[in-house]
Amino acid sequence: MASDKGLRITWLGHATVLIRTAKGTNILIDPWIQNPKYPKGFELPSAIHYILLTHGHGDHMGDAVPVAKKHGSTAVAIYELSDYIAKQGVEKTVGMNLGGTVKLEDVAVTMVDAKHSSGAQDANGTHYVGVAAGYVLTPDEGPVLYHAGDTCVFGDMRLIGELYNPEIAMLPIGGHFTMDPKEAAMAAKLLGSKTVLPIHWGTFPMLTGTPQDLASQVDTNVKVEHWAPGDTL
Ligand code: NI
Ligand code: MN
Repeated sequence: MASDKGLRITWLGHATVLIRTAKGTNILIDPWIQNPKYPKGFELPSAIHYILLTHGHGDHMGDAVPVAKKHGSTAVAIYELSDYIAKQGVEKTVGMNLGGTVKLEDVAVTMVDAKHSSGAQDANGTHYVGVAAGYVLTPDEGPVLYHAGDTCVFGDMRLIGELYNPEIAMLPIGGHFTMDPKEAAMAAKLLGSKTVLPIHWGTFPMLTGTPQDLASQVDTNVKVEHWAPGDTL
């Protein structure tokens, strides 16, 4: 489990993941603090330096604005989504796009492809906020991480693997809106990742994929982490 030094990854349920780098940079991916599996009583660090958003759906950016305001975060997203949340009152945003890399303190963050829809829904309807994305995080110290966001498996995951060599892949496995375990097992193969951290499962009854199901389908050299919301690696 967690040690005091080095990079730490905490799953907060659904696709919400908190990363603390060796240098102490706090990065929160897809903040949905009100998700049904959010670990009860878990306190976010007072400073969350960066929020990364994969797309505009409420189960990924639903709490981005309040968290950014409360924790002084800079929000990183595809250009149109960064513009959308800036208009909702987030003061510090970085708008980027697929293939781009930004250096955030001690982590290089690359926005990569994902195959999924992306629209932001509010009282005024559904808004175009760019396309869905994933992120590769390359820290100065520690393993390369990949958070796939919401996506199906796609052949160009092989390119992500070749270019960035993500050692640890956070992959959605619940099915229905994203990959299921069969597709996620192929994703792990294409990426060449040695460890898979399953996300986007178990939140609702319709997300039926499980880590056990994934573990039975991945290659023998791939480790599937059986983590629960609130666990830190
Ligand atoms: Ni989505
Ligand atoms: Mn989702």
